[in-house]
Parts: sequence; C-alpha cells; structure tokens
Amino acid sequence: MARVSLGVTRSLGTRNRISMAHAEGAPQNSTDSSGRRVVETQDWLAFMNAHTSAPASSEDDRPVLPAHTCVVTSAPDVSELSASNGGRAPSPEAYGEWLESMASTVVSRLPEDGVAVFYQTDVRVVYNDDSFSYVDKSYHVIAGARAAGGKVVWHRIALKSAPGTPSTGMNPMYTHVVCCSGPRGAPSFHQRPNGLGGPAQMPDVLTRGPCEWKRGTDPVVAYYICAYIAAQAAPCATTRTIVDPFCGTGCILACANLVGLDALGNDYSPKRCKVARTLVATRTSREGGGVDVTLSREEPRNLIV
Ligand SMILES: C[S@@+](CC[C@H](N)C(=O)[O-])C[C@H]1O[C@@H](n2cnc3c(N)ncnc32)[C@H](O)[C@@H]1O
Repeated sequence: MARVSLGVTRSLGTRNRISMAHAEGAPQNSTDSSGRRVVETQDWLAFMNAHTSAPASSEDDRPVLPAHTCVVTSAPDVSELSASNGGRAPSPEAYGEWLESMASTVVSRLPEDGVAVFYQTDVRVVYNDDSFSYVDKSYHVIAGARAAGGKVVWHRIALKSAPGTPSTGMNPMYTHVVCCSGPRGAPSFHQRPNGLGGPAQMPDVLTRGPCEWKRGTDPVVAYYICAYIAAQAAPCATTRTIVDPFCGTGCILACANLVGLDALGNDYSPKRCKVARTLVATRTSREGGGVDVTLSREEPRNLIV
C-alpha cells in the first residue's frame, strides 16, 4: 500500500467539490482550510519512494502514488543543488539532466486521476568570464514528463512585472507553470471544461504576488493551480491530496488547504519544514477582478507527523 495517509479517519466526501465560482467568488476573505497537512523532512526521492508502491495490476509494476493525488511543486534552482554536488552548483547541462530525471520520476508515479504541475523560473548560469548559459526549465520538465510517457495538459506563464517592463536582472521576470498528465492518463484533466478548451477560469498569463521568501512560490499562482485541480477533478470527485516533494516554506500546501484539499509536503530543510507547518493562505478579492492571496505564519496546525 502506498502511504499518503494523513493520519486520521474522516469523511472526505464533499471536500473537493469546490467550484471555480467559489474560487473566483464574491468579495470575501477566506482562510477556509478544511484540508489537513503533513510535512516530512527528507530527500525528495526517499520521500517519493516512501509514498509510492507497486499498483495492484500485474501488467503495470511501476511504483505509483495513491489514487486521488496530484503533485504541485517548484523544484530547486541550480543554485540550490550545490549541497548534493560537493558544495558546487552543477553545470547547466547536469542541472538540465537532473530536472528531466526529477520530472520523469514524478510524472511516472502519477495515478490515473492525477496530474503534476511544475512552477519553474528559468535561470542564466554565469561563468567566470561573464559569459552565460540559459536554462529553459519548461523544456527540461516537459522532456522529462514525455520520457515517462506523460503529456502536457497546459502551459501557463506567471509574470513578475507588467508586460513591456524592461528586464533588469539576470533571470527572466516570468515563471513557467506546466501541467502534465502521467503515463496512466488523467482523463478528467484532458476534458474540455464547459466546452471552452482550457483550464476553467485560469488566466493564460497570471500576475505574481509577493512570495514568502526569495525562492518561494507565488501564492496567487499556487492558489489558481490548487483551485483548478479541485475544480477539474470535481465531476469525478477525485483529487483529495496535493503532494509537494520540495515544499520549502509551504506556500503550495497552504493554498491546497485553502481550497479544501489535504496537503502532503516534504523538504530537506528542517527550518523550512517548520515554517511549512504553520503557513496559512488567505484569499481576498482583487480590485478590478481576480484574486489576491496572502500568506501568514500561524500556530502549528493540524496533524503533523
Ligand atoms: C524552489 S524551492 C521551493 C519553494 C516552495 N514552493 C516555497 O514556496 O517555499 C525548492 C526547495 O527544494 C528544497 N530542496 C532542495 N534539494 C532538495 C532535496 N534533495 N530533497 C528535498 N528538498 C530539497 C530546498 O530546500 C527548497 O526549499
């Protein structure tokens, strides 16, 4: 049996029946949070191995996450992988290979009603002579997903500044948000919602809000992703749990709870895990339409194991 177990027995019957009308709803503040949260502290692959198991079907013996699970994550940047690379950041080529292998592992383990959404900002790796290499992370994530037999469900862009703003830093002012299904399908995510042909009410181009820390995920985008998953899965009443193997300080977990889904997170930094257990997302309406989501640190919540 795979292990995504949040430690309590309670009816999950209605919790993912959130509609996008609710997600986009009338002016209101909400910290909703009927979802439960567990945060673990280990290497991501050990975490994935601990929560996947061989499926019952003898034809498919590849490890798989439990049914009703989706992955939403932001994998570490090249600069964050030096600890596992002898104290030096890996080369752009090695980093690209790592991203592909990570995405391939995650996507290959999706259950048939699950998708994986990757939130990744490209990076320029600068050399001593001031030349640089550009790493297009969406390319590597999609290559990894396809190598695992997955498909792209959609690809969105999240902007850090208004279109037309000159770029000042080394890294781009936008983030790729890529949703992939796995080798077992995820038919409800490949359905046209309401015949419109795209993820219900998720803007093609999103505007990022303030993040919790430098490499934190933007809460507005994380909210849209989680609300989309809850709404898209709703007709079949499937997705119950969002898994984030690189949860950092827990923005994605907090947004999953905000839309009523359970959240299972992991990060190898105990310090970030501690914050991830306390983070709460609050939704407010944005003037002129759309939503704002803010994050705050509160008392340790729910059932932490
Ligand atoms: C881009 S950040 C995630 C940001 C997160 N979504 C948030 O909002 O805080 C990547 C995270 O991966 C973690 N990490 C890096 N290497 C890891 C590994 N081998 N296993 C588990 N976590 C790792 C880092 O500690 C970091 O918190």
